[in-house]
Amino acid sequence: MCGIVGYIGKRQCAPILLDGLGRLAYRGYDSAGMAVLTEGKIQVIKAKGRLSVLEERTKNGTTVEGSIGIAHTRWATHGEPSDVNSHPHISQSGKFAVVHNGIIENYRKLRTFLTEKGFTFMSETDTEVFAHLIEYYYNGNLVETMWKVMRKIEGSYALGVLCDDYPDSFLAVRKDSPLIVGIGEGENFIASDVPAILKYTKKVCYLEDNEIVVLKKDNVTVYNADGETIDKEICTINWDVASAEKGGYEHFMFKEIMEQSKALQDTIHPRIKDGEIVLDNIVLTSEYLNSVDKIFIVACGSAYHVGVAGKYVIESLVGKPTEVDLASEFRYRNPIVTDRTLIIIISQSGETADTIAAMREAKRLGGRVISIVNVVGSTIAKESDEVLYTWAGPEIAVATTKAYSTQLACMYLLGIYMSQKLGKLSDAEQKALVAAVKALPEAVEKILSCRENVQFMASRFYNSKNIFFIGRNLDYAVALEGSLKLKEISYIHSEAYAAGELKHGTISLIEDGTLVVAPATGERLFDKMLSNIREVKARGAVVMAIAAEGNTAIAEEADYCLYVPKTHPLLTPSLTVIPMQLFGYYVASIKGCDIDKPRNLAKSVTVE
Ligand code: F6R
Repeated sequence: MCGIVGYIGKRQCAPILLDGLGRLAYRGYDSAGMAVLTEGKIQVIKAKGRLSVLEERTKNGTTVEGSIGIAHTRWATHGEPSDVNSHPHISQSGKFAVVHNGIIENYRKLRTFLTEKGFTFMSETDTEVFAHLIEYYYNGNLVETMWKVMRKIEGSYALGVLCDDYPDSFLAVRKDSPLIVGIGEGENFIASDVPAILKYTKKVCYLEDNEIVVLKKDNVTVYNADGETIDKEICTINWDVASAEKGGYEHFMFKEIMEQSKALQDTIHPRIKDGEIVLDNIVLTSEYLNSVDKIFIVACGSAYHVGVAGKYVIESLVGKPTEVDLASEFRYRNPIVTDRTLIIIISQSGETADTIAAMREAKRLGGRVISIVNVVGSTIAKESDEVLYTWAGPEIAVATTKAYSTQLACMYLLGIYMSQKLGKLSDAEQKALVAAVKALPEAVEKILSCRENVQFMASRFYNSKNIFFIGRNLDYAVALEGSLKLKEISYIHSEAYAAGELKHGTISLIEDGTLVVAPATGERLFDKMLSNIREVKARGAVVMAIAAEGNTAIAEEADYCLYVPKTHPLLTPSLTVIPMQLFGYYVASIKGCDIDKPRNLAKSVTVE
């Protein structure tokens, strides 16, 4: 989704803005631009296409004078990607320039209103409304004007505003869209995400909805929704620029796949003490847990797939009815939530629009929300009742890998924690499960070290037109993720099915040579899975199974088999997913796809 960077200080701002935009490129974009205040006048440079167009046009920013500026990468929502639809947008007189991330829902009404007032629109975007509306209501005081404008706007926005009346400051505001403020020495920043400014400062504060910030080079002033100035907590980021760089790897996705053992260790190990799970920020008493009559797990995309696995895990460990739902469905389907409902929200970014809305709906209905989130200070982390962080570090590739793995780990930790409170497991069961969770990082490392086997499979099947993934129970949950990983980055059509469901229709798509990936780690349903493998083979499929080491029976049925270390039956997705991620990655790599920025996708889906 769109990325915003803003700078004020002593240095020439254009190179800093371009560098920041480059670090936000992972979010996905189709055009870019910047507005810089040069000798009291706003200069706008913007273009459709890659950032390199802007870099070439400005000689990496060196030809643009000025030390106050705002910049933007656009991911088109209203109007096609084009020079004119790119941000920044300027007001009719050229006095104001704005960059915007989000969607203005009532923009048609406002556009008509402004057109009647004599404003001429240059673009098809909703954002241009912001620029003209600010100009229409401007009374010489930009903060006051912004209050008025915000009251007229319905929708979500992170907004940066430059005004030529203010040669030593600029303004920003957010509602339902992420925006951080970076505090430097004699220079300050705004950005959609930390990597954009990390090279210059590690001190950030997180804006809340409806807060306005006015940035000068030596100070920032934040106003709350009542117009009062407030002191914001300044947080120090505990990771460095290198964590958000490729570090010699060809793609962020591959780097992040390879980082999974470490990410799992950081997420799991500090939370195991004397064989028990200790979750510092979460206090679920046995009394409360006994009162819970329903658990929902709500998320989007891969995080939803964690939820599908989580349902099996929580039901088996905690013994409470657990329902998993897509956030975009949950928010609009009148879910039955009471004060006895526990809602687990999962999100890497903590900024996914549908997931935020689902969380707010769950809270409004009286439920208690625990979130599993990667980005510290994100909206979901702040608004949920309790948060369990995945310590995955920054995830840059659009296709999630290490965030998925650490979310899954958090799901295990939470499940065991709740079962401890309810006394559901015997000492021996608890000990075995906790030891198996603790051993996951090492097992993942072992699978990664055998990645050549997966690379070979990718070289064999990269030309496929359709690939199916089938599994049962937890193997089904992970099949969903394996299929998504493959299709989103390699553009090969792929579907995941519960193996028992295939013959209810989809099996008609299997023909000679169709690859079927069959995770078959579940011992209880192993024989049934073998039958399903035989069914697809009988129709011409080529089967690539994924099974636990030592399982020789599978080799007799499947055409190929990838092995993962044996683990506790509830934990198999954490291992099975690794060859699937690698398979998607290698297939996309052989096909020459833009792996870190797949077409049409954005890292953080901050609009509905
Ligand atoms: C797929 C992927 C997406 C995200 C989804 C939710 O590889 O990354 O499906 O999982 O957009 O994003 P978050 O977790 O940020 O809420």
